[in-house]
Amino acid sequence: MGNNLIPLRIAGVGYSVPDAVITNDDLTKLYDTSDEWIYSRTGIKERRVVSGEENAIDLGFAAAKNALEKAKMAPEDIDLIIAASSAPPDLYPAIACHIQARLGISTQVPAFDITAACTGLIYALSIAKAYIASGMYKNILLVATDNNSRLVNWEDRGTSILFGDGAGAMVVTASDDGVDDVIAIDIKSDGSIGDLIELSFDGKNCPLVEQYEPKPQGIRMNGRGVYTFVAKVLPHYVENLIANAGMKAEDIDYLIPHQANIRIIQAVQERLGYSDDKVVTNIKYYGNTSAASIPLALAESVEKGKVKLGTTAVLCGFGAGMTWGGAIVRLREGIC
Ligand code: UT7
Repeated sequence: MGNNLIPLRIAGVGYSVPDAVITNDDLTKLYDTSDEWIYSRTGIKERRVVSGEENAIDLGFAAAKNALEKAKMAPEDIDLIIAASSAPPDLYPAIACHIQARLGISTQVPAFDITAACTGLIYALSIAKAYIASGMYKNILLVATDNNSRLVNWEDRGTSILFGDGAGAMVVTASDDGVDDVIAIDIKSDGSIGDLIELSFDGKNCPLVEQYEPKPQGIRMNGRGVYTFVAKVLPHYVENLIANAGMKAEDIDYLIPHQANIRIIQAVQERLGYSDDKVVTNIKYYGNTSAASIPLALAESVEKGKVKLGTTAVLCGFGAGMTWGGAIVRLREGIC
C-alpha cells in the first residue's frame, strides 16, 4: 500500500439468523427428495428461513447491532453504510437506508446497497477499503443479508434445497496503528455466463405498447453449470490470490469460504492443503445464505471458538453475475 493511503482495521463482526429451521426431511413434504440425496451432494442438513413479516432487513439490522457492539461503537460513529444483498426485500429504499433509520442514526450519512450476489461481502469490503484508504470515510458499516427462501421456486427441487436465510455484518474503521487488516483483496466478474443463475425483476411494459413474455418467477439456476465453472476456477484463483500477496497457503490460519456446496469448499481446501480444523464450514446448518454466507461463517466461528483471534484468514466467494472474489484478512483480538 502506498504511503498516503490509510490502512483499514476490522473492528467488529456480527451475525443473525431466523429461528425457523427447515430440515431435509421437511422438504420431502414438498417434492420427491431425500436427506441422503441432499446431504451427500451439498453437505446441507437444514437451513433457517424467515417466517411471517420477518425479512432480510430485520436480520441485517440485528447483525449490524451485533457488529457495532463488538466494535464498541455507537451507531452515530458510523459515517457510511453499505448493504450487500442478492435480492433486497425492497429495491428502494435500500436495505442500508432502512438500517440507518432503525439504528437511529440522526446524521445524514450515505447509505446504499450493492448487488454482487454471494460475493457481496467481498465486493463491499473492497469498496470500503478504497473509501477508507482515501480518507473519504472513517467508520463504515457493512451489512450482508439475504432472504432467499422468499425468492426460490419451492417447486424446483434442484434449487430450493440449497438456500437459507441469514445476515452477517462487519464494522471497518481507519486503522491508527499503521497495520492494514486487509492484506489482499480482489474481485472479479464474467457477465457472459450470467445466465447460470438468474432472478428476474421485470415488471410490465406500458399498456399502450406491445407487451413482452414475462420470465419465470423465482431463482433459476443451472446447478451443474455453476458447479463445473466454480470447481474449475475457484481453487486456482484462491491459490493465486495468496501467491500474489507474496504469501504461502501455510502462512494463513483459516479458510472461510462461501457456503454453497461442501464439495466446492473441499476442492479449495485440497488445493491449499489445509486440514479440516483450518476450514470453516457451517453449510450443514444454514445452507447457502448468499451474501450473508461469508460474514455469517466468520462471526459464528469466532463466537463459537472454532476460529481463534490474532490470526489470519482467506475469505472467498462466488455467485450470480457470475461474480467471485477473495480477501486475506487479519482477525484481531476483540472483533467478536
Ligand atoms: O451461490 C450459488 C451458487 N450455486 C451453487 O453453488 C450450485 C452448485 N451446484 C450444485 O451444488 C449441484 O449442481 C446441485 C446440488 C444443485 C445439483 O447436484 P447435481 O449432482 O449437479 O444434480 P443435477 O442437477 O445434475 O441432477 C441430477 C439428478 C436429476 O435427475 P435425472 O435427470 O438424472 O433423473 C435431477 O432431477 O438429480 C435429480 N435431482 C434431485 N433428486 C432428488 C435434482 N434435485 C434433486 C433433489 N432430490 N433435491
